[in-house]
Amino acid sequence: AQHPTAVPRPREAARPTMTSSASPPVAALRTQCRYYASFGGCKLAAGTCPDLHYNDFGFGVLHVPWSMQNTFTGPTGKRLSHWHLISDQLCESNLLNSSELTEFLVDLLPPPPSGAMKHKVFPTDFQELVTVVDDIMSATESSHFFHHVLPFIKNMCLRCPSLFSSLPDGAIPILRQGVPGAVRLTEVQVLGLLSCSFLCLFPGRHRTFSDDQFLGNPELKKHVSKLGFVNFGSLFGFHQPQAQQKIRCFISYFETQYQRRKELGLEGGDTSAPTAGSSVMHIEIVRTVLGLECSNADNVFSLSKRPLSPVTITATGTIEDADGLLQADFANHVPGGGVLSRGCVQEEIRFAICPELLLSRLLCESLRDNEALIMNGAATFSKYTGYASTFQFAGHHVVPRPTAEEASRGIRNISVVAFDAVNYCQGNFQPVHQYLVPWQQRDMLKALAAFAGNRLSTLPSASSGAIATGNWGCGAFGGDVQLKLVQQWIAASLVNRPLRYFTFSNEVLCSEFAELEKVLRAKHCTVGDLYRTVVMYISSRTVIGEELTLQRRASSTVAAAPPVPLVTTIDDNDDAVL
Ligand code: AR6
Repeated sequence: AQHPTAVPRPREAARPTMTSSASPPVAALRTQCRYYASFGGCKLAAGTCPDLHYNDFGFGVLHVPWSMQNTFTGPTGKRLSHWHLISDQLCESNLLNSSELTEFLVDLLPPPPSGAMKHKVFPTDFQELVTVVDDIMSATESSHFFHHVLPFIKNMCLRCPSLFSSLPDGAIPILRQGVPGAVRLTEVQVLGLLSCSFLCLFPGRHRTFSDDQFLGNPELKKHVSKLGFVNFGSLFGFHQPQAQQKIRCFISYFETQYQRRKELGLEGGDTSAPTAGSSVMHIEIVRTVLGLECSNADNVFSLSKRPLSPVTITATGTIEDADGLLQADFANHVPGGGVLSRGCVQEEIRFAICPELLLSRLLCESLRDNEALIMNGAATFSKYTGYASTFQFAGHHVVPRPTAEEASRGIRNISVVAFDAVNYCQGNFQPVHQYLVPWQQRDMLKALAAFAGNRLSTLPSASSGAIATGNWGCGAFGGDVQLKLVQQWIAASLVNRPLRYFTFSNEVLCSEFAELEKVLRAKHCTVGDLYRTVVMYISSRTVIGEELTLQRRASSTVAAAPPVPLVTTIDDNDDAVL
């Protein structure tokens, strides 16, 4: 077993103190935010920095295909505009089958640096897209795609410069690490951006890229490396049946958008306002930065006298069906995770059926330990069956007309929060590490960042009311379902929000939780009581050198060997006895 000191530590964590006389947590708050959300007697910087972040070097704005800086080195060594090349090809091409389409996609990629082969620099294998349009879609669907949907996608790309002309300098802001902020774009603007992603037009945002695109500028390269790749080429070449199903979902989004805009008489990608009676709807991405270091999280949690929130726990249903609630996205630190490559679990499926969520991947630098992303207004365009290797597109999902309330707000009442647990199955981590105090604080702090809300969010459900969640961090990331449930319960209770917990068919977890809750309620247990109980249990296990036992337990299945007993007894002195 590894000794605790050899274990990786959270970036911002100092060794936690467990003394109850510690200075009040407010003393250690960061000050970069001007306004604070307040709860539990502590101030947390969950709000708001209203000015969007731009800077002189342009690293705070999205590097778009139509940018003047989107250039490549021509044969004479001069920098030439790539957008000119792209727009000529978009206007001139008439694509009627899959081989013409793949040739076209290769031609749209920027010329590689002299001497390099295109396929060595960019993904140029689009076989899975070919399989979808030739084999998975019916002949009628495929013909509709080539005659209507693909021309519509090309048109939307061409319309992008005018779609964004109303923004200052046409610039789309990036939500940078450490800076709270929000970006709100119309559905049509998002459609334009996703059309560019589909045709792999975003400079520097391929899964592989050439230094040539960074103009020899290492700072620009460093900045882009904090963003996920957004061009669909990586997915089109990912040889896996799930990739085909995800591609089918994305095409379904474009089909529906084409149909909708056709009904409005705007299928040519016209950017004018929709006809009377229809409202302009928006997608909103909000970055929450919690002004709290891991070292101070301990005080916020352990000193809290708040009661534990109500929890409704169920083995049936899924998070995405919990209408009107803040819905959890079990995220990667790069929003969307493997949606454009191999991933096909909760986050990737959600992004595939709600493609407008990809806006977060376009605009947000990766999440730090104290950050979460609220994503508002993204509708569901596809139905699905199965999960992971059995995932399948199951037809269009009819997007309902906005309600009167949604229309007046200009945004659908759908709020999703992306928050990433620690991946205990990667690098130096093993599942046993989640039982070490700093890591358990890190994950609780992350859940708090997700649940604390943000005043920049247009939708109240992002900041108040119940949260729909489940086995966060317990699939691909190897977490312990019982520990993660308790961590999320503590975080939600601290901000006074009920949980609706979907166990994803885990009946055992439902009944064990019911037993735990009964005991804790009988003892009138507070957030602080539960937190201290968990920490003391974990500390005692690791300090007395029982990591080996924990490691064995953690590597067996969670159901067979629960590492944190759910039945907890708290004696009259408020000390935890497990
Ligand atoms: N509703 C409720 N519960 C669900 C649902 C759903 N729709 N889908 C899955 N679960 P996982 P992680 C349960 O593995 O461990 C992605 O690649 C189910 O029990 O997606 O946090 C991200 O991009 C499942 O085992 O989340 C990250 O890179 C559990 O939730 C990484 O996975 C966890 O789902 C995150 O991994």
